[in-house]
Amino acid sequence: MANVFDVLAKDHAEVKQMLSELELGPTAATGADLGQLALRKKMVQQLVIEESKHEAVEEMYFWPAVRRQLTDGDDLADQAQGQEQEGKVVLDRLDKLAPEDDDFETQLAEFISAGRAHIAFEETMVWPRLRSVLTTTDADNLGRELEEGKKTAPTRPHPHTPASPGLLKTAGPAVAAADRLRDAVTGRSRS
Ligand SMILES: [Fe+2]
Ligand SMILES: [Fe+2]
Repeated sequence: MANVFDVLAKDHAEVKQMLSELELGPTAATGADLGQLALRKKMVQQLVIEESKHEAVEEMYFWPAVRRQLTDGDDLADQAQGQEQEGKVVLDRLDKLAPEDDDFETQLAEFISAGRAHIAFEETMVWPRLRSVLTTTDADNLGRELEEGKKTAPTRPHPHTPASPGLLKTAGPAVAAADRLRDAVTGRSRS
């Protein structure tokens, strides 16, 4: 069974792969043709979808566990959720831009750098600490909650919605359903 760290590590690996592919280009400035720019937009949409789902379930289940289980959990979670909020703002801007827009590559480069730093923070500052206090059963149960939560998580960043686990659990499914309907109508990437 996948425990919490397996579930999160798989997501992180996928995101890091996407960031590396996006970093390679080509970009509008380095001569990408229309097809390559359309693919770049699609890849960014996929990044936004995966990141939105990942951070949403961390907000709902992971950070509350960190706050409960670690003596300095509040401090760690506050720092990480601050990074997540900044990431959402950038992803929200990016989601509304076309690869031809001047600001697109600036925002993307900002996310690539901040996203990697955020992943490193979680993996090096938080995971080892939580791993040392969670029982196997707790780690498995949390992993299951994350996996289940991702099935109905929002697929857009929603930077103006407060990152409250309770609010996401009650409003989240409606928000996620609206996101998925918009995805279907606009032909956005699979969700
Ligand atoms: Fe995160
Ligand atoms: Fe994460």
